[in-house]
Amino acid sequence: MINLVEKLSLGIDGTMSNTEKILVLGGTGHYGRHIVKALIENKQKVRVLSRNMTKAREIIGEEPEILEGDITSNETVINALQGVSAIIICVSAFNKKNIRKFKLIERDSVLIVLYEAEKIGIKRIVYISVYGKPDVNVDISQGRIKREIEDKLEQTSFNYTILGAPPSMEIFFSMIRKGKMTVPGGGPPALPTIAPIDLGKIAAQTVVRSDLNRKRFSLVGSDVISFREAADRISKVTGKEIGFRKVPLFPIKVAALITGVLRPFFPYISQLLKFIILMNTAFTSEMVEQAFDHQRLLQETFDYQPLTLEEFTMKYYNLK
Ligand SMILES: NC(=O)c1ccc[n+]([C@@H]2O[C@H](COP(=O)([O-])OP(=O)(O)OC[C@H]3O[C@@H](n4cnc5c(N)ncnc54)[C@H](OP(=O)(O)O)[C@@H]3O)[C@@H](O)[C@H]2O)c1
Repeated sequence: MINLVEKLSLGIDGTMSNTEKILVLGGTGHYGRHIVKALIENKQKVRVLSRNMTKAREIIGEEPEILEGDITSNETVINALQGVSAIIICVSAFNKKNIRKFKLIERDSVLIVLYEAEKIGIKRIVYISVYGKPDVNVDISQGRIKREIEDKLEQTSFNYTILGAPPSMEIFFSMIRKGKMTVPGGGPPALPTIAPIDLGKIAAQTVVRSDLNRKRFSLVGSDVISFREAADRISKVTGKEIGFRKVPLFPIKVAALITGVLRPFFPYISQLLKFIILMNTAFTSEMVEQAFDHQRLLQETFDYQPLTLEEFTMKYYNLK
């Protein structure tokens, strides 16, 4: 049987040939670096746009072409698109440093990328969005912007696929301090997460396939579990007791209201608090059921074996 790498090099079954170049916007990020790694493993030609060449080289190595520049510059975008057959959009401005430029980076610049790409006849786009298609009125600007870009893609002639990313599996580890997992609100009954390496493999396979046009996948890894269960399972792997502590959500809701009003002064905290509330409320038991359907669909559509939390823990703590 012919394998994926061979298919890519032959450009058969609607797959893109590996002489064509793929531009990854956000290719140095938490998810993006794994997309780049998977593309390189699949022998694809890759270009990454990054604001810092030296840092980018440290993260993604010598092989991918790196164009130093900022997505907010039209000239940079036009240069980045030259000679490219497909684009993976994985930029994010959801951090303390960039949050004031959030709309400029995640909305305005992405719309310019789409406009310029359509103008020069680039056909294939993969857009990394959030897990579920956001409601138009969602109370978090990140969600509203993702929805706007998803709607825009529907109006274009691109062959496009949307990959809805859940929180990274690292979210469980980011809440562990001094042997305790402390979770504001305790988290939902079960949270879909994904190992970044799995997201990378899925995105790398998606971008070279033209048969996934106008499809949206909600990505989910091997586990849909609560924070408490994650703490127990991580404890078992590491052999060290990890306690679980739920911090009440009420003070966070109050703080979200206050920082919401004073948002120009606290833009990052305001968004972060809203995200914490959303994480506690959005993942209903109905969504958990759907997550298992999403999981099945991914397994049927893509060639990969998702990492379990136990395997991820071993990698995260460098355990043998
Ligand atoms: N991480 C998660 O848990 C999570 C959860 C749900 C959805 N997502 C979605 O996944 C996608 C990627 O998120 P992430 O967490 O991987 O992002 P990230 O780690 O914060 O990385 C951000 C990326 O965007 C690039 N970038 C930011 N501003 C830029 C600019 N002005 N010009 C050029 N590049 C710029 C950065 O490149 P340089 O710094 O090299 O310039 C970097 O590669 C986003 O759509 C996000 O909404 C992530």
